[in-house]
Amino acid sequence: MQAKTIIEPFRIKSVEPIRWTTRAQREELLKAAHYNLFLLPADDVLIDLLTDSGTGAMSTHQWAAIMEGDESYAGSRSFDRFRDSIQDIFGYAHVIPTHQGRAAERILFGVTCKKGDVIPNNTHFDTTRANVEFTGAEAVDLPIPEGRQPALEHPFKGNMDVGALENLIARVGRERIPLVMLTITNNSGGGQPVSMENARQVSAVCRRHGIALYFDACRFAENAWFIKLREPGYSSKSPKQIAQEMFRLGDGCTMSAKKDGMANIGGFLCTNNDLLAQQEKDLLILTEGYPTYGGLAGRDLEAIAVGVQEALEEDYLRYRIASTAYLGHHISAAGVPIVQPPGGHAVYLDARTFLSHIPIEQFPGVALACELYLEGGVRSVEIGTLMFGAAAQMDLVRLAIPRRVYTQSHIDYLVEVILEVSKNRERLRGMRLTYEAPFLRHFTAHLEPAGREPRPGSAS
Ligand SMILES: Cc1ncc(COP(=O)(O)O)c(C=O)c1O
Repeated sequence: MQAKTIIEPFRIKSVEPIRWTTRAQREELLKAAHYNLFLLPADDVLIDLLTDSGTGAMSTHQWAAIMEGDESYAGSRSFDRFRDSIQDIFGYAHVIPTHQGRAAERILFGVTCKKGDVIPNNTHFDTTRANVEFTGAEAVDLPIPEGRQPALEHPFKGNMDVGALENLIARVGRERIPLVMLTITNNSGGGQPVSMENARQVSAVCRRHGIALYFDACRFAENAWFIKLREPGYSSKSPKQIAQEMFRLGDGCTMSAKKDGMANIGGFLCTNNDLLAQQEKDLLILTEGYPTYGGLAGRDLEAIAVGVQEALEEDYLRYRIASTAYLGHHISAAGVPIVQPPGGHAVYLDARTFLSHIPIEQFPGVALACELYLEGGVRSVEIGTLMFGAAAQMDLVRLAIPRRVYTQSHIDYLVEVILEVSKNRERLRGMRLTYEAPFLRHFTAHLEPAGREPRPGSAS
């Protein structure tokens, strides 16, 4: 029988209580947090969808492997297991552990980029962009045009615009492009996958011009599953075979193991280039640690060695992607506008359309995220005008689903909360900033409901 019910492919062995609060308590808590969900104590959140990064549950196999951790400073056997497991999937000659994804980015761009260089990507994640720009290089996003339209359905909305890549190379010159990056899946573009065909075309362009291709591989397993489901010729291949085929198209990768590494911390950098690997390891020793631990404990290396393999298990991926899609389809069928189709790790609500009566300067995404908390104790994150200022193309609210943490009934509860908010959407009011930091303001900003007198001395 092909069951319709989504069941979690695991049993629960250890539970972590979550706490109910009343609406009156949440009103007080939100006020005390200055209407910024980052400033809420996590204990006062019922369902926490702030991020899928480092928030997953580990398996019994991972916990068992942790006990095998070898904490030797140099030559740890945990590193051997980590390297072997990663090479089995990614296939690159050098595997360099780092404490998380952005450390891998800093080292890669630190040794390859200089002022005046240009790094093309389907869409840079914010830490990736920041690390490129920190070297003086320019980060250029080249998504396909379909990727910029939230309501449009497309199987591989994360693809790179290959024509735009060719034009960029012709315009700036091959010597100013040390590498091209492909982010799988495309997080900032709505968690959308990249097809094998697109990766093949991008790889061919890179090889023709002698430019290295690197993957930002954070969600490589989810991307492989989408290829299996949606791309002709891949339905009988395993997610691992698909991932291996994709990585053969490139020369290296950066990875945050807090996503499809199924770990709570960690990352790595891979390359086939011996000279670069040496320079990268030298920099690693300076800031992260010796190359057989790279800022991680031996037990973390063990958890990642097991986690990257578990992320590719078909039962897990089937449940993971079906569960995210279930949330997306149920709310969109009831008229809630979302980025279509639902992504792998998250559903993105289109707050600008959902709350069209709230002016963009009054942060419709923040208003919606606050209301989801007030209604049901759900924490999400605004990706819009508060995060990016006037440069924001959309006002989205991301509901990122931690791996193996919430069950189908939690997802049903979320649907209920979102539909309740939707019923009362006309009553929602906009927000006004009362404090902002000079950079990355969304983490620490203070806001209040618009329509009140500004407090003396506060920002407008
Ligand atoms: C696509 C992508 N790249 C890089 C990173 C950075 O990884 P980390 O948070 O481990 O530094 C993230 C994290 O969310 C990401 O989603």
